[in-house]
Amino acid sequence: MKYIIDTDPGHDDFFAILYAARRLDVIGLTTVFGNSTVENTTKNALRICDLAKLDIPVAMGAGKPIVGDYVVSPIHGNDGLEGGKSIPSTRRDMDPRGAVQYLIEMAHAHAGNLSLIVLGPMTNVALALRVEPRLAEWISEISFMGGSTGTGNVTAFAEANVWKDPEAAQMVLASGVLLRMAGLNLTGQARLSQADADRMAMAGTVVGGHAAQILSFYLKQHSARYRRPDAPMHDPSAVISLVHPDLFEFRDTNVSVELVSPALRGMTICDMREIDPFPGETLPKPNVKVGVRVDGPASVEAMIEAILEYE
Ligand code: BDR
Ligand code: CA
Repeated sequence: MKYIIDTDPGHDDFFAILYAARRLDVIGLTTVFGNSTVENTTKNALRICDLAKLDIPVAMGAGKPIVGDYVVSPIHGNDGLEGGKSIPSTRRDMDPRGAVQYLIEMAHAHAGNLSLIVLGPMTNVALALRVEPRLAEWISEISFMGGSTGTGNVTAFAEANVWKDPEAAQMVLASGVLLRMAGLNLTGQARLSQADADRMAMAGTVVGGHAAQILSFYLKQHSARYRRPDAPMHDPSAVISLVHPDLFEFRDTNVSVELVSPALRGMTICDMREIDPFPGETLPKPNVKVGVRVDGPASVEAMIEAILEYE
């Protein structure tokens, strides 16, 4: 199986990309607004590829959601990857195709053998589905970080990636593609700490050094916001679940996005009821494999081991 990562790097995106590049056949990245502007997340993606010696196309995508505009959350600092400011800038160019064209071309060329890993707002995928509805048949699976079965992180019930483009998320959820969700309820079970950053620094490698600085910055931001010394491992969880499904438990669930209510906009409505229909009643059909449990320490260990393999 080949993979394209759609991403808004992003401190946790950094770890997800590096992990995926060691464990999966990643053929390209597409970028999207989210943790910063799309110009910044694209620059960050190119710098990450240089650092990891990942010679793959990076195609720039959407700069804003399908409806309205977006607000950058300060948690990722100045340019979306403030903790990685010592990663050298790049002279590499982005792919001349935009993300939507790139996704469609690759999905056609590798139909049945391409999956997506989506780590930011789902705008690129939704736009690509709108331009080429056959994308839903060509793509094998989408593993995404987003949503939650419980509380949110931007509002009481909305998670950042879904909240930044709820219409796009709903279009992807309704597309019929096999979907795997790593939401906040799951990613909070795998937690990164300063000891993990220290271990990466101790490796004495270039990548380990940058990774340690990125994680340390991320932990500092999280402790200011969430009053605890560790941080959830968001984006890598959507990748690790593909490599080590044995560490995860998923439940087939109907998921939709609330688009109307101002207080609940961007919330993922996960129908976790375990019920049989009354006679004549039709229950919503499961459309997402929702991650409900992960062996957190084993998942974190899998991620760090991959980072330590880099020079
Ligand atoms: C998600 O939002 C971004 O801040 C992270 O990169 C992650 O994809 C967590 O809600
Ligand atoms: Ca992200």
